Amino acid sequence: MGERKRKSVTVFAPATVANVACGFDVLGFAIHGLGDEVTARISDQPGITIASIEGDGGKLPLETEKNTAGLSATSLLNELGYGDTPGIELRIKKNMPLGSGLGSSAASSAAAVVAVNEFFGKPFTTSELLPFAVDGEIAASGTAHADNVAASLFGGFILVKTHQPPDVITLPTPEDLHCTIVHPHIEINTKNSRLILKKEILLEKAVTQWANVGGLVAGLYKNDYSLIARSLHDEIIEPVRSVLIPGFDEMKSAAIQGGAFGCSISGSGPSVFALSKSRKEAQHIGEKMGESLKKLGLDFDIYISKINTEGAKVLD
Ligand code: HSE
Repeated sequence: MGERKRKSVTVFAPATVANVACGFDVLGFAIHGLGDEVTARISDQPGITIASIEGDGGKLPLETEKNTAGLSATSLLNELGYGDTPGIELRIKKNMPLGSGLGSSAASSAAAVVAVNEFFGKPFTTSELLPFAVDGEIAASGTAHADNVAASLFGGFILVKTHQPPDVITLPTPEDLHCTIVHPHIEINTKNSRLILKKEILLEKAVTQWANVGGLVAGLYKNDYSLIARSLHDEIIEPVRSVLIPGFDEMKSAAIQGGAFGCSISGSGPSVFALSKSRKEAQHIGEKMGESLKKLGLDFDIYISKINTEGAKVLD
């Protein structure tokens, strides 16, 4: 297939908000400011090696077969027919909290596959890279879901129709849409927070949920903030997972009272996101959500961002 075209490639892939209330495993969007950088370089070792990881507090494994970026890159390298010497070493810089519900493992996987693809002169399209990036998510969460990796790879608001074969729809992003994210300082393991979910749901709740997904998608196409607000509800996942997030109900009420269109769990949590229509509103909502956590004595960070429509990008 491809051949090595470059000596070194550095790629940034953004953090993401998955599910977006009603769209468990199928909706997501990328944000600005947080994300991972992966540099790929030629190595004497066969296959993929992880040379270093910065910014993870020593928590992430350097073993390729245990590291989401390592697994995704290996999957792509094998498909390219370059599983042998000389291989590629990855240097990973994490600029986002781990276990925060902001797609940390996905950003590493997305950056790694884009870097390796670029390294070989781009034999695959971004869409074709998706299944390789998902291989890292399987390792991280125990199941194949592509909402974080697709949003990180493509940027913008995405709908994952299927990831194998890759079928991702980039939805329109209303220009003024802003996101407030509050990250309480606890860690939630995605694998565990998927295990607590019910395997069966009531038809009545399913009907409400898919009506909301349709409403949200239509709202994005029509630039209709009222419809977006009426659709940002999660009947199925949020009631189960929110018990893992101290102060969730208080934060959500504060966000809605502060003028948010809606508020729910970002990915598998503990971060909580709210959408609104200007930076000023997003900041005000963040202050209100923060006040509710302060009352409970919890530490947290607040991030404000527009939707990042760029996705993963080559820096160097
Ligand atoms: N859709 C996924 C979940 C995102 O909610 O479990 C977290 O990786």
